[in-house]
Amino acid sequence: MADIGQDINHAKEVLGSGGLVAIPTETVYGLAGNALDDNVVTKIFKAKQRPSFDPLIVHTSSLDKARDLVIEVPEPAEILASRFWPGPLTILLKRKPIIPDLVTSGLDTVAIRVPAHELTQKLLKEIDFPLAAPSANPFGYVSPTTAEHVNQQLGSEVDYILDGGDSEVGIESTIVSFEGTTPKVLRLGGLSVEEIEGVIGSVEVNIHSSSKPDAPGMLKSHYAPKTEIVLLDAFNLQPVEDLSRIGALVFDKPLDHIDPDKQFILSETGDMNEAARRLFTGLRALDQRIDISTIVTNFVPNIGLGRAINDRIRRATAKE
Ligand code: TXA
Ligand code: MG
Repeated sequence: MADIGQDINHAKEVLGSGGLVAIPTETVYGLAGNALDDNVVTKIFKAKQRPSFDPLIVHTSSLDKARDLVIEVPEPAEILASRFWPGPLTILLKRKPIIPDLVTSGLDTVAIRVPAHELTQKLLKEIDFPLAAPSANPFGYVSPTTAEHVNQQLGSEVDYILDGGDSEVGIESTIVSFEGTTPKVLRLGGLSVEEIEGVIGSVEVNIHSSSKPDAPGMLKSHYAPKTEIVLLDAFNLQPVEDLSRIGALVFDKPLDHIDPDKQFILSETGDMNEAARRLFTGLRALDQRIDISTIVTNFVPNIGLGRAINDRIRRATAKE
């Protein structure tokens, strides 16, 4: 188990000497290290057991600092970044040679994000290198939204966990690419498509669901708990006799016939932001119950962060 605390100076020292620190962000916790150091980046991939073809996001404290890492910031990217950074937005930009090949898996774009969480903002301002940070979970599993989640799974892989409490957004950042004429959303996330379109006009949503993705990392089966998880519709076709071992992850109302104590309600008031915030906590809580052998779930209304939630539900229930 790792050291957990709120000591920014200690986090700085660890990072400065090539160590790994789990950092809180408003989306999910990240597994962070010096993005400019090949050895550190290699350590990050190993700790997560992440395939090397899946590139990392680089975190910095401001748009101005981001300019040192990229060749140019196209106008719509500039508009989005000025409006939504710090925040749950990642943009893909042409990288400068200072960004190691390992970070981008050889691609000529780098994913950049300026996170809003106060502790991490402070940390990023005080170090003189950017932080590469994937979500701090073993590859393919649900992302962590508390320090404890990180400790449970990657506690032995990180040197320090900076504890910033519960992640407020609870779902990963939205990734936008500016190659081509229309901006493209490559991952639905904590910034809704509606909010993006409200500022730069219509965008394409191009989220891949395949086992050999072209936006790497968008694997079909992802964000999955270890317990079997199925969509309610699919489940109806193959009823299991013993409902006593069924758990449910539901939007705003419990399901009939299933023990209320085995159901996780994302938001009793139907608040989509609350549902996003609680999604991964709910999946983890059900996954850890030894008296639940199958989790059933269903899509939520496809508006606002509901689209990102549904994307995670689709991937978690995908068979592969
Ligand atoms: O909210 C977040 O984005 C969190 C926090 C820690 O910042 N990070 C996160 O990182 O979710 P990760 O590694 O779990 O997901 C990053 C995604 C992957 O799907 C990866 O393939 C994609 O970003 N990505 C990174 N660089 C890319 C690039 N140059 N082109 C296309 N996709 C890229
Ligand atoms: Mg991840």
